[in-house]
Amino acid sequence: MATTLITGASSGIGKELAIQFAAGGQYVVLVARSEDKLNELADQIRKDHGVSATVICGDLATTSGVDQIVNQVKERDIHVDTLVNNAGMGALGKFAELSIDRQTDMLMLNVVTLTRLTRALLPDMIERGHGGVLNVGSIAAYQAGPNMSVYYASKAYVLSFTEGLREELAGTGLHVTCLEPGPTESSFGEDSGMGKLDVFSSSTMSAQAVAKAGYEGYCDNDDVVIPGWKNRLMVTSTGFLPRIATRKLVGKLQGV
Ligand SMILES: NC(=O)c1ccc[n+]([C@@H]2O[C@H](COP(=O)([O-])OP(=O)(O)OC[C@H]3O[C@@H](n4cnc5c(N)ncnc54)[C@H](OP(=O)(O)O)[C@@H]3O)[C@@H](O)[C@H]2O)c1
Repeated sequence: MATTLITGASSGIGKELAIQFAAGGQYVVLVARSEDKLNELADQIRKDHGVSATVICGDLATTSGVDQIVNQVKERDIHVDTLVNNAGMGALGKFAELSIDRQTDMLMLNVVTLTRLTRALLPDMIERGHGGVLNVGSIAAYQAGPNMSVYYASKAYVLSFTEGLREELAGTGLHVTCLEPGPTESSFGEDSGMGKLDVFSSSTMSAQAVAKAGYEGYCDNDDVVIPGWKNRLMVTSTGFLPRIATRKLVGKLQGV
């Protein structure tokens, strides 16, 4: 049975991605900090889909936390075919006013951990010649985001890294896909502070719909998946506008 490891599987998009992969017959490895939520999801997945589910808890915002998770994967002799780098966080506010610890934790989680986990698990995937990487970015990747500058920059990294990796792995048989959600119902809105913005709350999609699009796109080996026509329209329009215009618009919409 093929194995998929999903980070940030305790809620939102990650939880729904875990359900999608399990429904597709995959053995799922669920990673996050909230042990109770992960155990509950693992029970639900075993019952509903008849596949195995393993829980590994850890803090992905620290290098040692990531390395402990990789060690546990090896110690338990788990061979990861698909890595879903989904765990992420955001923070609305001016760079100079938000705490530096919160913003560097964000860079760790959204950028460094995604990179470190991919580097740790990819060589075995290449050797086996199947599986791949599904990275969860955001439509924030396509322009700068004043009042959320670090988050937008982190998601630009996720898109650029995924596209580069995809070219490096062409011909290996591996799938490499970037899922780029727009506003989505999950804890993210409240945790990041974005939930209070009209531009966010007026156009959310369900985490289930986003995960379904991401899972299907990954299975088809699409390069980029942008769920929802409104999000696709937004990204396409961004491509036609000068960067100064898009960043000023985003700054207005995200006024704090
Ligand atoms: N919701 C949106 O509007 C939206 C839009 C675009 C992109 N995204 C992206 O989608 C991804 C998933 O977000 P979501 O909307 O599903 O948010 P969410 O419901 O808040 O889920 C975030 C997940 O990441 C995990 N996580 C956070 N910090 C962690 C840490 N230090 N160590 C380990 N796990 C950690 C959380 O688990 P624990 O708290 O249990 O550790 C949780 O499972 C993120 O990359 C986000 O940037 C979301």
